[in-house]
Amino acid sequence: MNILLVVGSTRKGSYNQMIANYIMEKYKDDYTFKQADIATIPMFSEDIEKDDWPIVDKAREDVEWADGIIIVTPENNYSLPSVLKNYLDWCSRKKRVFINKPVMITGGSMGHWGTIRAQGHLRQVLRSNGHKAIVVPGIEVYFPKVQDSVENNMLREDKAGSLNKNFAIFVDYINKMN
Ligand SMILES: Cc1cc2nc3c(=O)[nH]c(=O)nc-3n(C[C@H](O)[C@H](O)[C@H](O)COP(=O)(O)O)c2cc1C
Repeated sequence: MNILLVVGSTRKGSYNQMIANYIMEKYKDDYTFKQADIATIPMFSEDIEKDDWPIVDKAREDVEWADGIIIVTPENNYSLPSVLKNYLDWCSRKKRVFINKPVMITGGSMGHWGTIRAQGHLRQVLRSNGHKAIVVPGIEVYFPKVQDSVENNMLREDKAGSLNKNFAIFVDYINKMN
């Protein structure tokens, strides 16, 4: 099974990257992982969307390659980060690559609510006509005060219980779809 990780932070030392690192390390023998490069995608505008953008073509190809996508995102001002929204906007045009793709959402923030508002907005975006993704129902994994849940560039094993339980639900859902 091919799984694409999309991390909504481009920050060096990102806690959300550490959550993604944990998933890719923990399950490396059972699944094939790739991480989307969302940092260098140009800012979307309809004026440039028909131009040749190899980095955008690659981003779309990675989604097409995936049997499932895991989005790991922080929260910026109660919503999803603009770099993630920009990536999703590109993926909703020309080729709408997220259609019918199973998606799992998780994420951590330094606040008390652990990305609950960002994840709600992200679910709404993925339900849009441009995406029509399948956000796998029932999966809710939040990391409040995420800075206390990581060490050595990775999510701590003792903080990963909910993530692991929901990852199992996610891959089971994909297996039953196929
Ligand atoms: C512009 C901006 C807005 C933020 N807004 C929120 C917010 O609404 N809720 C929250 O819990 N944390 C917020 N934070 C703090 C982030 O949770 C924190 O920077 C987090 O570490 C970002 O994730 P990362 O470590 O993966 O880069 C904000 C940070 C920035 C830079």
